[in-house]
Amino acid sequence: MNHLTDIDALSDEQINNLLDEALRYDRIIRAGQDLKGPLAGILQFNLFYENSTRTSLSFEVAGKRLGADVVAVPVAASSVHKGESLRDTVLTLAAQGADIMVLRASGAGTIDASKVALKEAGFGTAIVNAGEGAFGHPTQALLDAATLMSAFERTPDDDGLRGLSIAILGDLVHSRVAASCCALFARLGADLRLCAPQELLPTSKPDGVGLVTTSRFEALEGVDVAMALRMQTERFEADLAIDPAGYREDFGLTMDALSFAKPTAFVMHPGPMNRGIEIDSDVADDPSRSLILQQVAMGVPTRMAVLRHAANR
Ligand code: CP
Repeated sequence: MNHLTDIDALSDEQINNLLDEALRYDRIIRAGQDLKGPLAGILQFNLFYENSTRTSLSFEVAGKRLGADVVAVPVAASSVHKGESLRDTVLTLAAQGADIMVLRASGAGTIDASKVALKEAGFGTAIVNAGEGAFGHPTQALLDAATLMSAFERTPDDDGLRGLSIAILGDLVHSRVAASCCALFARLGADLRLCAPQELLPTSKPDGVGLVTTSRFEALEGVDVAMALRMQTERFEADLAIDPAGYREDFGLTMDALSFAKPTAFVMHPGPMNRGIEIDSDVADDPSRSLILQQVAMGVPTRMAVLRHAANR
């Protein structure tokens, strides 16, 4: 079994293999071909301590399509609400035979701590990070990269995302998606620009990022891709107040703002969207520009690739 905890924990070869496999599964699904059940006999628990639609369901669909036995842990109805710790819950599922545990949690270091607890207790269960607080969401970054490669007709082994300019706008300081996308897109050769109000910008420029700015127009000038991020008000400190109307005016992905990008530029958003705040509906729903539903669709084949990596099959 192989853990998947972070983009930085993956080698270039593993990243290329995961993206190749995601794009291969995407073609197989579109062609309606037989998936042959390579994960038959694998027990997969999905343990989500934070709400999810896209990630939890795509991991469930992916596991079932590959023939795994998939159990979605009902956290709200579990002994978590009698005070059972995350560590004890993880060990309980491992003792029930979990081969793969897909885990979403809010605390920093939760994913690594779970990995260590499993090892110390002698379990071979693979942990897959399905989103850890504001720190990382590696499978979202992988599916976003696969979506871009499909849209730009690129391949992981050949040109990756080399030379593509990508602007990421929004609540960068709270975004696990931004953290993982920056790490992955930079490794794949993209030219990255980040834009947010000062209080939502990272305190230092992440590795591989070319530009950090509070100017939406500077960020979007001539880009190939504009990605908006969700305003994560649930993670805001009590003293951080952002006015949604003012935010849209200065930082929202509106048609006017998008006119600064290339005329062929694509639009992305990891979801869920706050329409009318970080992105306007006419942008999000424009079929010639928006890759948002393609991102959702690519979640299934990407997570199929991730589960095969985790199961080492
Ligand atoms: N993008 C993403 O992680 O969405 P969910 O929270 O719905 O899983």
